[in-house]
Amino acid sequence: ADLDPRAQNEHQVGMSREMEQLVRGTLAEHVPSTPMDDDSQGPPGPPPGMGRVRKDVPVQPDMKDVKVHPQPANSKSRPGKPATKFMEARRRLPAFAKRHELVQAVHNHQVTVVSGATGCGKTTQLPQFLLEDAHDTGQACNIIVTQPRRISAISVAQRVADEREEALGNSVGYSIRAEAKRSHATRLLFCTTGVLLRRLIHDATLAGVTHVVVDEIHERGMSEDFLLIVLRDMLSQRPDLRLVLMSATLNAEAFSAYFGGCPVVHIPGFTHPVDTLFLEDVLQRTGLKVHAQQQQQRGAHRRRNDNTHKAEIEPAEYTLSPQQVQQYGQDVSKSVTAWASNTDKLDLDLIADLVTWICRNEGPGAVLVFVTGWDEIQKLNEVLGQRSSHLGPVKLLPLHSSMPTVNQRDIFTSPPAGTRKVVLATSIAETSITIDDVVFVIDCGKVKMQAYDALNKLAVLAPVWVSKASATQRAGRAGRVQPGTCFRLYPRRLHDEAFEDHAAPELLRVPLEGLCLQVKGLQLGAVQTFLAKAMNPPNTLAVSNAVDLLRNIGALDEHEQLTGLGQHISQLPADPCIAKLVLMGAVFGCLESVLVMAAAMSHRDPFVLPLDKKEAADAARLAFAQDCCSDHITILRAFQRWAEAEGQGQGWAFCRHNFLSRQTLVTVDSIRQQLGELVVSAGFLGPGARAQGQNGWSRGDEDLLRAVLCAGMFPSVASIRQAKRASFKTVEDGKVEAHPTSVLARQTFFPHRWLVYSDKMKTASIYLRAATMVSDCMLLLFGGPLAQGIAPGKLTTLSGQLTFTAAPAVAQLILELRARLDAVFVAR
Ligand code: CDP
Ligand code: MG
Repeated sequence: ADLDPRAQNEHQVGMSREMEQLVRGTLAEHVPSTPMDDDSQGPPGPPPGMGRVRKDVPVQPDMKDVKVHPQPANSKSRPGKPATKFMEARRRLPAFAKRHELVQAVHNHQVTVVSGATGCGKTTQLPQFLLEDAHDTGQACNIIVTQPRRISAISVAQRVADEREEALGNSVGYSIRAEAKRSHATRLLFCTTGVLLRRLIHDATLAGVTHVVVDEIHERGMSEDFLLIVLRDMLSQRPDLRLVLMSATLNAEAFSAYFGGCPVVHIPGFTHPVDTLFLEDVLQRTGLKVHAQQQQQRGAHRRRNDNTHKAEIEPAEYTLSPQQVQQYGQDVSKSVTAWASNTDKLDLDLIADLVTWICRNEGPGAVLVFVTGWDEIQKLNEVLGQRSSHLGPVKLLPLHSSMPTVNQRDIFTSPPAGTRKVVLATSIAETSITIDDVVFVIDCGKVKMQAYDALNKLAVLAPVWVSKASATQRAGRAGRVQPGTCFRLYPRRLHDEAFEDHAAPELLRVPLEGLCLQVKGLQLGAVQTFLAKAMNPPNTLAVSNAVDLLRNIGALDEHEQLTGLGQHISQLPADPCIAKLVLMGAVFGCLESVLVMAAAMSHRDPFVLPLDKKEAADAARLAFAQDCCSDHITILRAFQRWAEAEGQGQGWAFCRHNFLSRQTLVTVDSIRQQLGELVVSAGFLGPGARAQGQNGWSRGDEDLLRAVLCAGMFPSVASIRQAKRASFKTVEDGKVEAHPTSVLARQTFFPHRWLVYSDKMKTASIYLRAATMVSDCMLLLFGGPLAQGIAPGKLTTLSGQLTFTAAPAVAQLILELRARLDAVFVAR
């Protein structure tokens, strides 16, 4: 039966504010992160609540003669009076016992590695020790602590300010992209790794900074690995700079070796024992059953860098009895393989059953559930919300990397007695955020992880099994305050035989375009040479692919220098191709339409494909596709019509009727707005420009859009091989087909020879899932770099993959236009 969406909405009233913020935050997960994205997980735009944010507070770079006052004048407590409320809690942390040793190590060595179990007080305490020591010894001090995520930068800064009983923004502040709270008095600044990287652009030696603390290095995030190369090179120029690397887990020695054998201070932690149950034990103890795997929404299309095989994977056919599962856990290796390959789906029903079981059968204590992403958090939240009468008094709390500050206190504080806190989280709760009152952990065993296939130039963001290190970390979260239980929803054998010990560093798993752009922006020399200095250097093929792509889109010239366009692309924290698309949209006055298409590419196709109504759904999509030969324009039209319907209060009905996901459209809308704000905040357009740029939604502009799409997607170009079969050939000469869900799959007549695509995936064969037909002329005008690689009469892309011959007069005209366009970017 059709659920009335409005009723569903009402049901969620209690959650609606959080949900909305999460929706806005979803951007984080879906906009391809690039190193210029200073918060690889955060939404590329100011989060809601900007009102209370101070922007662009100037900092004095030189703080040499400023003394630190642990109790600033405006502190609530009088100077000298110990801050007892938090002092007790601070003293109890394992880090406190190591205070002297830590301070001495940092004092005596330029680089120190600090390792210790999560929650032992590294992030909140060590920077304070340094601050207090500087005060006691009368030394100048200006500490920067980097965090991989915005949410942790803010929450930790807030916590430290609380502990010091002062308002955030005095001696303790934070800075994340487009948002900061700090002042001239700030001596301890928590910032995202990206913010520090960006500061290096104009302040290559971090003048005036006394300590840099790089936190969470065990995660081996790309930005952190990159920052470590830069900092290691900087040490000789800044002999007075102190560098502290903080890591949650064992690998501390590897970091020490990377820094020439620097000292490692280990903070021993204490956790209560955690009873760890594998799936077979869980089912036995609870009597619950594994559910038939949910049908995936087939064709839930993803963004360009997210060519998961989701749509093609068959729904797992098995429903397991507890006995069967026990068997799986014990000896059937084939079955373990079946489990191992089934990374794509979560048994959310089992998770919901288990939460229910815990609420009804276990003693007090918060429940922390690890799932893979925003979608799963949302679905689970919905299912549990519907069951709330069975759960007793509960507080459901989604926790997602991009959540703004507002609800965070709820996550850290204990609910009133009798109410059970249930936190639904991604792997963010694994190390960077510690929730103290957790007694029960439910671990789905999976994490969304990016992978990059350099040979096929395919990037994949897909759920995979976590590493053993992550699994241990997740279980440990249950033993913070008392003995706890971890329910692992995978068989023991799978863990023992199929899980890796540690996850591979991000630098080895992702496309490197954004990072290469950053190397150039920071003037760090030749990309290959620079990246070869990484702790685990990326594959040279992956690096050269990235440089080639940047040349092909005209962001780098033949000498590997940033072009005018490249400068602007590097300012936008988005995938370089999407950034180029958006910039071209701005130049050609069709920004609003382009933003919708870019947002949909970053997120996903808003069309849904219910298996039982496949034909009706196909027809609905094709109705929007009339005469456009473009998946992108089809989505744009659907979005525009939806926006109109939404304005008349008909949004839900419109979506139901047209097989669209309103949820996806709402998210696309929010990404669209935020991308637009980024173009403005990067200084490319004046603040008023967007309002004027609202050029309506006229059909006549669609050819222009096609041309601009060409600019954004080049060199992802294919030509027609066999029109009848919608079979094409990429410029690299690979055979590809239009995906059955693409509007081009139904096409038998193609008005143009070429198509550009934003989504290529490999399953049985290689499919293009989102493509647009373009003409020769559009390719000639907009394909490839603007300034080079073309000669009059014969137009060739840089890599020589596409060659056109044109009448000299036409070629001349095209060259002129391209040169002018190039000048637009150089001039700005
Ligand atoms: O960095 P590490 O994992 O070693 O620990 P931490 O983040 O410094 O946390 C130390 C303690 O402070 C833990 O007990 C946290 O729960 C608590 N904390 C908090 O209550 N609120 C925050 N926003 C951050 C930490
Ligand atoms: Mg920490």
